[in-house]
Amino acid sequence: MASLLSFIAPLLLLLSPPMAISGNGFEIQEATIEAIQQAFKEGKLTSRQLVQYYSDRIHALNPLVRAVIEVNPDAIRLAELADEERNNAGDRHLGWLHGIPILLKDNIATKDQLNTTAGSFALLGSVVPRDAGVVRRLRSAGAIILGKASLSEWAEFRSFSVPDGWCGRSGQGKNPYVLSADPCGSSSGSAIAVAASMATVALGTETDGSIICPSSSNSVVGIKPTAGLASRAGVIPISPRQDNVGPICRTVSDAVHVLDVIVGYDPRDENATSEAAVFIPRNGYERFLKTDGLQGKRIGVLSKGYFDLFPSTSVRAITFQRHFNTMREKGAILLDNLVIPKASTIEDFIGKYEDEVLRAEFKEAINAYLSELTYSPVRSLADLITFNNKHKDEEKIGEYGQDIFLNSQNSSGVGPTERAAIAKMRVLSKQGLERLMKKEKLDAVVTPEAFFTSIMAIGGYPGISVPAGYGRDGSPFGLCFTGLKGFEPRLIEIAYAFEQATNVRKPPSFKP
Ligand SMILES: *[C@@H]1O[C@H](CO)[C@@H](O)[C@H](O)[C@H]1NC(C)=O
Ligand SMILES: *[C@@H]1O[C@H](CO)[C@@H](O)[C@H](O)[C@H]1NC(C)=O
Ligand SMILES: *[C@@H]1O[C@H](CO)[C@@H](O)[C@H](O)[C@H]1NC(C)=O
Repeated sequence: MASLLSFIAPLLLLLSPPMAISGNGFEIQEATIEAIQQAFKEGKLTSRQLVQYYSDRIHALNPLVRAVIEVNPDAIRLAELADEERNNAGDRHLGWLHGIPILLKDNIATKDQLNTTAGSFALLGSVVPRDAGVVRRLRSAGAIILGKASLSEWAEFRSFSVPDGWCGRSGQGKNPYVLSADPCGSSSGSAIAVAASMATVALGTETDGSIICPSSSNSVVGIKPTAGLASRAGVIPISPRQDNVGPICRTVSDAVHVLDVIVGYDPRDENATSEAAVFIPRNGYERFLKTDGLQGKRIGVLSKGYFDLFPSTSVRAITFQRHFNTMREKGAILLDNLVIPKASTIEDFIGKYEDEVLRAEFKEAINAYLSELTYSPVRSLADLITFNNKHKDEEKIGEYGQDIFLNSQNSSGVGPTERAAIAKMRVLSKQGLERLMKKEKLDAVVTPEAFFTSIMAIGGYPGISVPAGYGRDGSPFGLCFTGLKGFEPRLIEIAYAFEQATNVRKPPSFKP
């Protein structure tokens, strides 16, 4: 009975006209940041109405899709403050994110009433010392922290058998297009929630694929920035070398407005953010939102091992070919059938060493994170393992084990073997993608879905996933544009022009 009700309630909401719960005639559901700011300006909408709309939608839809773990009890008050600030600001532009509700993946710390738990009961009740670096930037830009999004528990780093989108605290996250389809992970809740308009925008994190993959699978835009472009301070870590924070949004322009706010130097993530700061353009990323952004761009199409994996008559293969034609029509120069030098050596090396190095880094990084908490029931990876063992027959742990935790605990940290592997991955990145891009003078390479994320991960390369289509069953897929470190400006030009030319994304239909 309960499950029947929880199924019907969201359907009733979906069938009711969106106007009924929107601002004065303004339709919130698919609204972009730019449209919302315009509506604020014209007095057609308030931040309070926006927060109320998303809260109602979360209340109705979350029993079905489980994308949100907690809603911020202060969100309404923060929205009222934003409305007041705007009323007092006159004609002054307060910035794109002012008064905009944002959901954060539950591994991004907030020093407020919200918990920060990576989806696990082990961290419930822990107290963080301060906001994460990116949260500090969001708050000073006037964004409203709406709540915490669900994820694959511990960002998919507890056990290989934890399903995509599952965490102890909120259960199984669902793909809003086809409920039985894989939502991918680990930033599953962030992608599901923005796809289903449970927030304007969201943040996710990526160590290897965790922004790009759920963005592709839930038909939203995800940006995995150059390593260190956005601070990872206060983010529950896997690897300081590979972790990234990035936007997950319904449109490229929304994602770029979020990116503009979260990037920059942070003394608490000193080395990485100071190194990447040189890549940030003086006037930000917004000016690269150009409809003619494909004009003259050299884009490498990686066929072997990527696009050739799809049978030529499949929906995906046909759709990708159509998109390539569109890109050419818009002035891009597509270089077909390119192959990354040493591709198989690189793939083999990643297969053999990436996880091993991550496990060593995780042990050190998670112990450091836990030891810095103001209060916590768990203080080390050993404590987390004990917690999971103690509750292993309970629903909140699930039947999924903790093999990655155990292997990581067993590692002796980053030693000579791991350092050698890291050095080798750097060399292979130079000999692989970097060599290809320089030789062919590429602005980007394009790959399907999330097939390229390990190469992006070990090289610290940025990428943007843009909705590309829907399979026969209605489940979404994306295209990923990747470049070298600091290539965000041209990736944004390409992704925006591609999105504007193809206009693929449509709202989810919650098919069983
Ligand atoms: C955070 O967790 C505590 C339990 O430790 C709970 O009482 C509280 O409601 C949670 N906060 C939110 C915003 O849900
Ligand atoms: C940052 O860089 C300095 C100088 O290379 C190094 O000594 C230090 O260990 C680095 N800090 C971290 C946290 O990696
Ligand atoms: C722990 O490490 C030892 C030595 O490297 C190995 O023999 C053992 O299988 C490992 N155990 C686990 C659970 O990984």
